[in-house]
Amino acid sequence: MSIAFLDGDYMPIEQAKISPLDRGFLFGDGIYEVVPSYAGKMVGFAPHIARMKSGLEAIGIQLNWSTEDWAELCNRLIAENGAGNLGLYLHVSRGTDTKRFHAFPENIAPTVFAFSFEIAPAPIADKSSVKAKKASTARDLRWERCQIKSTALLGNVLHFQQGYEQGSDETLLFNADNQLTEASACNVFIVKDGIVITPLLDNQKLPGITRQIILDVLRKDAQIAVEERIVSMDEVANADEVWITSSSKEIAPITEIDGKPVGDGSIGDIWLAVQTLYSAAKFDY
Ligand code: PDD
Repeated sequence: MSIAFLDGDYMPIEQAKISPLDRGFLFGDGIYEVVPSYAGKMVGFAPHIARMKSGLEAIGIQLNWSTEDWAELCNRLIAENGAGNLGLYLHVSRGTDTKRFHAFPENIAPTVFAFSFEIAPAPIADKSSVKAKKASTARDLRWERCQIKSTALLGNVLHFQQGYEQGSDETLLFNADNQLTEASACNVFIVKDGIVITPLLDNQKLPGITRQIILDVLRKDAQIAVEERIVSMDEVANADEVWITSSSKEIAPITEIDGKPVGDGSIGDIWLAVQTLYSAAKFDY
């Protein structure tokens, strides 16, 4: 049984209840994070909490939690739920109102909810043990504030489902100018002629923590060239390698897009090099 946190108390997840007038439920009016933890060690705790705080600020939710408060919550979830491969889900909604009215209510306390769920073991940097993934593509029809890690994920859910129904693991998204934005629940990297390339951050993408760690690790290592810039649909179609990245997947190679092989259809050498660097450094973040 999994132990969850809701508004100050720890309880079995089945006992955690919120009001239907919670604005997270009614409007998707909230911010969330997923922090990965392996054998009791978190990856990227500080940047995840920094992103949570900037998301709360961006949507005007005032929550007086320090980084230490978040650390205490995460460590307690790990202690309660076993130190396996966990995704620590942290969620803050604007709180419970007495009516359904769009404007921010005054003087309501935010709802803080957290639980942990099992994630796949971290990928091993080994071509024969990692599972290659398939992706579909779609025009990105989400909103223009994708830099906010909002709990309102219907746009993402619909895009994910679109690929899922086609037998894909993810859906790669392109804006009206046929530029790669991200995927429904991941950031995207391509590799061409040995260069690792990922779209520049703007309001069309979530600033992923896995993405941030990969870029930092690569720049410190300084052996593989890396570029943050616009990536066109043609570049994705002609890439040597394509990866999706997220906290629960780390770096996952895509070997097929819309039924066509990526590069020669096998897992690439640059994936191997970068996942090796990431695996070695991730607990430093
Ligand atoms: N998804 N882009 C989107 C739209 C995402 O939902 C995510 C993460 C990412 C990658 O961000 P990070 O590296 O910080 O996990 C990019 C999470 C894991 C989820 O919703 O389950």
